[in-house]
Amino acid sequence: MNIKQVISQRRSIRTYKDEPISQELKDKLENYIADVASPFEVKTRFIMLDTDDMSPQTKLGTYGVISGAKTFICGVTEKVFRYEENLGYTFEKIILYATSLGLGTCWLGGTFNRSNFAKAVGLNENEMIPVVTPVGYAKEKRNFIDSVFVKSAGSVNRKDWSELFFDGDFGKPLKRDAEDRFTEVFDMVRIAPSARNKQPWRIVKNGAMFHFYLCRALGYKEALGYDIQRLDIGIAMCHFEIMIQELGLTGKWIDQAPDIALEKNTEYIISYIVE
Ligand SMILES: Cc1cc2nc3c(=O)[nH]c(=O)nc-3n(C[C@H](O)[C@H](O)[C@H](O)COP(=O)(O)O)c2cc1C
Repeated sequence: MNIKQVISQRRSIRTYKDEPISQELKDKLENYIADVASPFEVKTRFIMLDTDDMSPQTKLGTYGVISGAKTFICGVTEKVFRYEENLGYTFEKIILYATSLGLGTCWLGGTFNRSNFAKAVGLNENEMIPVVTPVGYAKEKRNFIDSVFVKSAGSVNRKDWSELFFDGDFGKPLKRDAEDRFTEVFDMVRIAPSARNKQPWRIVKNGAMFHFYLCRALGYKEALGYDIQRLDIGIAMCHFEIMIQELGLTGKWIDQAPDIALEKNTEYIISYIVE
């Protein structure tokens, strides 16, 4: 599977076979996690937990959203500048790697029992666990709760290019040109996962510069106590940079907001310059 196929195949899986993942795949995941690179200097750790090893007091719970999974990966981070984008980016790399191994995953930012997961990973004072994912073998058929989630979030839909990508400023949507080398990059950003499938990323292209913005769904940040939509931006950044590298190009993330008029509820996050 190439990376485009991996990105295209990933779906949130909430219904798993009642079967532990093989030791071989666990080892592969552990090795990948040990070396995974982050875009920013933020201390993170990714802990794999098996529910079978837990005592009844620290049982890992997902409020019934996930069924069957016996293994979880927890994203633990210190809370410093850009920790959300950093975690979104790095965790998505792990999710894509697990997908390439044929394993199912599901980003969980809300529907998991934070305090039990915190106990299980031995959370330090300056750390938090914004997200976890189950990993396991997907059952062929989604159960009822899974289907309800997919339906209510409209998970199979994505916004049109014209709502997401812009040419120079927000007044001019970027036209999808099949011949353009960056088209695949944008296509793969477009199908990224996001919390409640809000797809808050917006990109303004200006020559070799790509400016990333967050179009905020209101009331959301306050509800969870951390900025989950900045994790979504980190996920979009991950898909973007992986695809840039796939084109044989390199670049870097820089803080260089262009002088353009902003759309409502939209804020600048970061830019990428292709070198
Ligand atoms: C940061 C983040 C948090 C999420 N939190 C949850 C969650 O708490 N519970 C859940 O069932 N799905 C959660 N999801 C999964 C999204 O609903 C899902 O990615 C989106 O609907 C798109 O569907 P897809 O992943 O199948 O493409 C989360 C996704 C992201 C990126």
